[in-house]
Amino acid sequence: QRHLISAADLTRDDAVLILDTAEEMARVADRPIKKLPTLRGRTVVNLFFEDSTRTRISFEAAEKRLSADVINFTAKGSSVSKGESLKDTAQTLEAMGVDAVVIRHGASGAPYRLANSGWIDAAVINAGDGTHQHPTQALLDAFTLRRRLVGRDAGLGQDLAGRRVTLVGDILHSRVARSNVDLLHTLGAEVVLVAPPTLLPVGVGSWPCEVSYDLDSTLSKSDAVMMLRVQRERMNAAFFPTEREYSRRYGLDGERMARLPEHAVVMHPGPMVRGMEITAEVADSPRCTAVEQVANGVSIRMAVLYLLLGGAVFDTKNAPAATH
Ligand code: CP
Repeated sequence: QRHLISAADLTRDDAVLILDTAEEMARVADRPIKKLPTLRGRTVVNLFFEDSTRTRISFEAAEKRLSADVINFTAKGSSVSKGESLKDTAQTLEAMGVDAVVIRHGASGAPYRLANSGWIDAAVINAGDGTHQHPTQALLDAFTLRRRLVGRDAGLGQDLAGRRVTLVGDILHSRVARSNVDLLHTLGAEVVLVAPPTLLPVGVGSWPCEVSYDLDSTLSKSDAVMMLRVQRERMNAAFFPTEREYSRRYGLDGERMARLPEHAVVMHPGPMVRGMEITAEVADSPRCTAVEQVANGVSIRMAVLYLLLGGAVFDTKNAPAATH
């Protein structure tokens, strides 16, 4: 059984294989007919228990470009509202003949449970679980970084060794941060986390990265800064930081962006809250890769589906509880 549950499960070779395959998949998007016959006759279900714009739609686009049959399930409007469990929901869908399940869930560990419980036989791909992992986001971020910092043509087989990536914001609630720390570390990059102490998780000192409370001191040494949204939906209202104070200390505006090295890029996984962690001036600048990241997400998800359903070399080997 082959799944993609966590970026921590990927070796450097696995990750580079996915990035290189995505580079091949990106060529399909440049063709007049943007389709491959690879998954003809295979069925993929997108099982979304949490809201999503980018991940859900780009998985669907990737599946259709590979000629798979696609079933979209969102918890809203389903029998989940009547109390149906994850197990019964998944088995109901598998009874209709499903080869792969792409799952987003609010509970950390739900994709691992689905993959390892014996409930279903389908391959499981984690599209974001709670505050735990979002492996395809980390892969598309690495793909974007590699293209921007190493070069599109030099990309094949290359990794991000020695590049310095700064992640800024709500690290505590961010599955994007956890996945990026894991994958960037595997690919040899140096990672710096910048956040107020209240938005850093307990135990962050044991993660393979540096930690700082001071954004200004990190800018001139960064090859990329990745701005993260403050996830109010996962916070008690009493702990909301005030917007003005937060953006004054941790927001990226034009003046701060000007202190980055000339080659450095600004990243954001989306959704962005303009005026909070990033100003409109920065979000709309050519240095910001947010829209490029979305386009790259389709290529990465095509690569993951192609490799998993075609027999990938990577496999789930870790427990669901993140080490961080
Ligand atoms: N980056 C990301 O996961 O966005 P969505 O929540 O819109 O899928």
